[in-house]
Amino acid sequence: MTSKLLPGAVENVTSIRLDLCTWKEVEEYLSFSKAIILPIGSTEQHGPTGAIGTDALTAEAIAQEVGRRTGVLVTPTQCFGMAEHHLGFPGTMSLQPATLLSVIHDLVLSLVTHGFEQIFVINGHGGNIATTKAAFAQVYSTAISRDLPSARRFRCKIANWFLMSSVMREAKDLYGDKEGQHATPSEIALTLHLQPSLLSKQRPLPDPSPAGPIHGADDFRRRYPDGRMGSDPYLARPEHGYDLLNKAAEALTKDLSQFLEAL
Ligand code: NI
Repeated sequence: MTSKLLPGAVENVTSIRLDLCTWKEVEEYLSFSKAIILPIGSTEQHGPTGAIGTDALTAEAIAQEVGRRTGVLVTPTQCFGMAEHHLGFPGTMSLQPATLLSVIHDLVLSLVTHGFEQIFVINGHGGNIATTKAAFAQVYSTAISRDLPSARRFRCKIANWFLMSSVMREAKDLYGDKEGQHATPSEIALTLHLQPSLLSKQRPLPDPSPAGPIHGADDFRRRYPDGRMGSDPYLARPEHGYDLLNKAAEALTKDLSQFLEAL
């Protein structure tokens, strides 16, 4: 699906990756589009069988597929997120909320300084949402105080792939209440599609702790001893992941088109 405001689908993902562009190519891109996608994830435990990088791997793959479908540039993935409550499990690398706020603020401000005006954040981790919105509020204010040329025109949006209604419907159809809230079979399925070597980690697990509140790291580990919140990731299959990737990309492509047209 493409919008009249979008350059259209591109042949492969390489040409929409900002990290593989030269600055001359970015300058040329800015002459016909001011839109850019910034994927953000997290590096945190995903239960006893899920990859630590799940939230970053999924956000990156979906962002690149949306970029491929629309021709909108995709930045490198911000792979560290606000995961303080997962710090009871080894391998988790968290940014404190104030740190993440500064990181998102500075990344968006860099893009706005060079003329990007539509910043579409594709997020893979629920713990990033509040802080990212706070960063947007801060960067609108900073852009005005620095008198940047596009300070009164640029807009930011965060889109959470796992909360898109078509994705949630599909997860419900596939897994029912075994989807749970963390280390979900839907996100694990996506990683199995992206990295088939992860299939070797899959194994049946005992019933998980039911999903409930999230407080600090110690409390999280006590409530959810193996890291899962009500989920059964053993139900995940790579082919589900392929399907969910397409559902997410389709929904976010539409969301991005509406975001661009609304300005
Ligand atoms: Ni996750």
